[in-house]
Amino acid sequence: MCTNSSMTKKLYIETVGCQMNVLDSELVVASLRKEGYELTDCTADADTILFNTCSVRQHAEDKIYSALGRLKHAKQTHPDKVIGVLGCMAQKDQRLVFERAPYVDLVVGPGQIHQVPRLVKEARAGAGQQLEVSLGRKEGSRDAIQRSHASFDPLRDPAMRPTPYQAYVRIMIGCDKFCTYCIVPNVRGPEQSRPPSEILAEAHQLASEGCKEIILLGQTVNSYRYRHGDRTTRLSDLLYELQEVDGIERIRFITNYPKDMTDDLLAAVRDLPKSSRYLHVPVQSGSDRVLERMKRGYTVDEYRAMLGRVRDWIPGVAVTSDFIVGFCGETDEDFAQTCKLVRQLRFKNSYIFKYSERPGTKGAERFPDDVPDAVKKARNNQLLAIQNAISEEDNQPFLGRQVEVLVEGPSKAALKREKQTGPPPVGPGKPAGPLQLTGRTRCDRIVVFEGNRRQIGQLLPVTIYDANALTLFGTVVTQHAGPELFALSSGNRPMNRL
Ligand code: 5AD
Ligand code: SF4
Repeated sequence: MCTNSSMTKKLYIETVGCQMNVLDSELVVASLRKEGYELTDCTADADTILFNTCSVRQHAEDKIYSALGRLKHAKQTHPDKVIGVLGCMAQKDQRLVFERAPYVDLVVGPGQIHQVPRLVKEARAGAGQQLEVSLGRKEGSRDAIQRSHASFDPLRDPAMRPTPYQAYVRIMIGCDKFCTYCIVPNVRGPEQSRPPSEILAEAHQLASEGCKEIILLGQTVNSYRYRHGDRTTRLSDLLYELQEVDGIERIRFITNYPKDMTDDLLAAVRDLPKSSRYLHVPVQSGSDRVLERMKRGYTVDEYRAMLGRVRDWIPGVAVTSDFIVGFCGETDEDFAQTCKLVRQLRFKNSYIFKYSERPGTKGAERFPDDVPDAVKKARNNQLLAIQNAISEEDNQPFLGRQVEVLVEGPSKAALKREKQTGPPPVGPGKPAGPLQLTGRTRCDRIVVFEGNRRQIGQLLPVTIYDANALTLFGTVVTQHAGPELFALSSGNRPMNRL
């Protein structure tokens, strides 16, 4: 049962979708905090309720419309509550959101997120429904469309991140690839790279706040190109510049487009000590026929050659992929080729999605969504089983090995326990007890181990003793257990050895 007894304004925000949305929500929270808002995890308690939405699959949209449906009664009884729909579904559906949920006050596309504080204020002041969206891909010159999609990257709020030691940094917005299944180019607009000076300034700011790892974001992050006069900064150049930011220990970037995986980038990932040896490079299908219909711009052999280069250049690299099963016209034979490819290429992990037709895409216009849902589901499960077996096998060589882990925080199990029992007391005279922690290796493998709260945010050596498909289990190598605490009364004996 939630009660809003204080005078502070309360904000409830729910985020679905990709890392871009997670970052946008972090920034919206930061800007509303400046206006005196505090976060609540209860809609009944909230003065403002925001949904940051995704349009990549129908299911993500259905979830939001159901959540809005559940708020209808709350809005009737508390008409002063401001309800907002932000993000990709807002851009895609626009006024349709008001038609389906007439009690929504704001509809704000991803290119207009910077307007949220003003729009909330206006809605609260009784200005009526507010719609702020960017131009569609055919609604003006490229320049005008680009200008209508503003990247919003101002102040940061470390408190909004799952861990203050990691942060997303947007390096580009939009997408120009127009894969036929994908709604992203329509809702997030043209590809635009951010100036390197802005990205570096943000990295310095994050480092000064104690952030250890930055994750560079772009829909096709390796297509990053920023032209200044006759010079061009590529992603590899940016990695070299970010390498020099003191305090940042690790740098990752997602998501890569297979055709733009250039040698200069592979060399940077190999040579830069702070660069994660991890690349997410979605192949989507193992059938040339399907890839062509998807308009991915490469064949299976071309992808295979690219992956060969990646593995030759970067020893120990971990590569992950996305797959769509049940795309229009996908036959049993096409799917068998995808299974074969997954067995051959041995990705560290694969994210598998059932095709979801998106109105407004070329796929929806040109091809019928003709694979029955039951078949999509069966193919999804089959591919997942193949991938899981490979992931588990590929984790076995880690047994007995020592890896370097950047500690992110309590493990999921520890967080669940803390939710039930509350966090343990910490402070002078109350040494932190053992806590199950989680972190990642340089090749992005998740490691769970027993540690203590002070180790969060540190790079620790961990020896692995067990592994399943998604997780390595380890023990901290004790002589590096972290900054030592000295008790004055005990002759400066270190207290926090594990
Ligand atoms: N249906 C299912 N999956 C999709 N993706 C993108 N669009 C669709 C769609 N219409 C998947 C792709 C992409 C990932 C982020 O989402 O695999 O790489
Ligand atoms: Fe969508 Fe293709 Fe662009 Fe990725 S590259 S965002 S799948 S259109």
